Amino acid sequence: MTEAIRLVGLCGSLRKGSLNRRALELAGSVLPAGVTLDIVDWRDIPPFDADVYAQGPNPQVQALAERIRQADGVVIATPEYNFSIPGSFKNVIDWLSRGDNQPFARKPVAILSAATGPLGGARVQYDLRRVMLFVNAMVLVKPEVFIGGAQNKFDAEGQCTDEATRNFVTQQMLSFETWIQECRRMRAG
Ligand code: FNR
Repeated sequence: MTEAIRLVGLCGSLRKGSLNRRALELAGSVLPAGVTLDIVDWRDIPPFDADVYAQGPNPQVQALAERIRQADGVVIATPEYNFSIPGSFKNVIDWLSRGDNQPFARKPVAILSAATGPLGGARVQYDLRRVMLFVNAMVLVKPEVFIGGAQNKFDAEGQCTDEATRNFVTQQMLSFETWIQECRRMRAG
């Protein structure tokens, strides 16, 4: 029997009505059988300060790092701010990147983005992929999912109303499951 796959979801936006959170929830609703996704909140993580880091571990960062370590993969849905990663979310990655037993190291990661503009966050994904490369994550290459004009693709209840978007995200999650299995085999040598 195939082992269960547990995913952690990180949303790059903190706002309540976040379209990226809706995209993440959509991903959680179209997962293959045996795969589950828990969206993890990171709003309590303080701004990174190397002096504070030097004083000892931050409990919120430790808790998030452990959630990621325990997960079989991470799904990130993030907005694009000024062509790049939202500062508050980059801050979280910076915190997680310090110390031993790196949570993202050899961790399968899938990235999607939603934006009100037509490109759907195409630029932020390449910045995020670059950052994920440095923390040794195993990022799913394809299919890429860019949800442009996202304000027209989810209803007031947060349900996806666009069949093409639902299909893209479904395909990505199917490929992510396969990628996680491949990563398991690679890690086993
Ligand atoms: C944006 N937005 C945006 N969109 C985009 O496609 N490219 C960009 O560079 C930016 N830059 C940007 C900067 C800042 C500070 C904000 C607040 C917004 C618009 C963005 O796509 C839109 O607000 C999304 O709805 C944000 O994602 P959430 O919060 O809905 O997940």
